[in-house]
Amino acid sequence: VVERTLVLIKPDGVRRSIIGEVISRIERKGLRIAAMDMRTLSTEVAEAHYEEHANRPFFASLVEFITGGPLVAMVVEGERAIEAFRSLAGATDPVSAVPGTIRGDFALEVQENIVHGSDSTYSADREIKLFFPELA
Ligand code: CMP
Repeated sequence: VVERTLVLIKPDGVRRSIIGEVISRIERKGLRIAAMDMRTLSTEVAEAHYEEHANRPFFASLVEFITGGPLVAMVVEGERAIEAFRSLAGATDPVSAVPGTIRGDFALEVQENIVHGSDSTYSADREIKLFFPELA
């Protein structure tokens, strides 16, 4: 089943100059980049993107982090792209993420975990509409 997923290279990934590294892993896997740009999120878009975490104690800090600098947003497409990208990314907590994954290789803190990938077809549709309304 060909799917689309929203991938973000978060501000920590941009700051650390690993945009190319992340894109290269996506392309090597055989996934396609259907849309991509660099942007700085407004608080409104960040809160909408993370609405399911609105009641978590880390929400305010997460919104501050994700709006704190430019990020790279992309729509990634391919066979089971949602699960395929999540397996490239590794576990949310980079300490548990297996070496060889993006988070396992490049991160140590749960908030600054380099990338985001949609976690379901429902989230992917919602997030792609939010970031790339022209594609939805
Ligand atoms: P992401 O996959 O983008 O989805 C939610 C984000 O919240 C997650 O990556 C982390 O950046 C962040 N996050 C998740 N759990 C925690 C936590 N316990 N403390 C701080 N940030 C978190």
